Amino acid sequence: MTDIHEILICPLCGAPLARQEGSFFCTGVRRHCYDIAASGYVNLLPPGKKNNARAGDDKDMLRSRSRFLFGGWYDAVSDTAARMGCQVIGNRNAITFADAGSGEGYHTCRIAQWFQEKGISCTGVGIDAAKSGAQAGAKLARVRGLDTVQFVAGNIFALPMADESADLVYSIFAPIPGEQAARILKKDGALVVVSAGREHLWEMRCTLYGQPRISEGVQMPAGFTVAERETLSYEINLPDQETIAALFTMTPFYYRCPREGREKLLALDKLTVKVEVDFTVLVLDEA
Ligand SMILES: C[S@@+](CC[C@H](N)C(=O)[O-])C[C@H]1O[C@@H](n2cnc3c(N)ncnc32)[C@H](O)[C@@H]1O
Repeated sequence: MTDIHEILICPLCGAPLARQEGSFFCTGVRRHCYDIAASGYVNLLPPGKKNNARAGDDKDMLRSRSRFLFGGWYDAVSDTAARMGCQVIGNRNAITFADAGSGEGYHTCRIAQWFQEKGISCTGVGIDAAKSGAQAGAKLARVRGLDTVQFVAGNIFALPMADESADLVYSIFAPIPGEQAARILKKDGALVVVSAGREHLWEMRCTLYGQPRISEGVQMPAGFTVAERETLSYEINLPDQETIAALFTMTPFYYRCPREGREKLLALDKLTVKVEVDFTVLVLDEA
């Protein structure tokens, strides 16, 4: 199985990282050092970048997402993503994957567990710009005994991972770092894009907007060919205001819906809502 330090690279000079006690340090001339936090995550956001402080989702969004995901409502999402990735790359004894935009690591940990349950040893890296997300992911990995899953605070558009180091890159409801995925994927690897389907959360959107628009699909990155597509569709019955609020707060609608729609939604005691999720597995174009 691959060691984490064989995959991670220094965000400043791109040199491989080595591990020594509670730190990673780079093997380049300057030996940049990155301490591993008590929770287990490592901050590989380039220091001093102005946008670091505001990068990634805010704490409200992260907290709501955790509250909602731990209800198990989206477990089928990580299961389908793991299965489709595995199908496309074929059975391997060991895999390395990256989850780009991993939030608080819920799906990252479930994907790692899915592979382990199939007897496939698995090294995983969850990367998110939000430090509190990486921290939550590290704590979850520890609770679940996933000692080969490393959470990193980092920028997915400058992934701190070595060239051709990953069998699979996951992008789950997150911006898609096409060029970076192409760089870190092994030649026979695959990028798994999970995105909202056209009628995802339709009833919630109807309450918020009256007459919502059908969503357009996400733009797939250049340099890849579609190997597999699936749409997952099911209904969930949200039983109380707290669960409705948690789902709402983790969506982009939280920031941009009209006030009347928000008040109407948050006054509901229950809501049946359609989950519609698109899965697209992409492989690198043959050069
Ligand atoms: C909608 S959330 C999805 C989180 C997780 N994949 C899930 O499905 O639970 C998108 C995530 O992408 C992260 N993100 C956005 N831009 C990023 C960037 N440039 N680098 C790293 N993470 C980023 C956000 O912080 C957020 O946690």
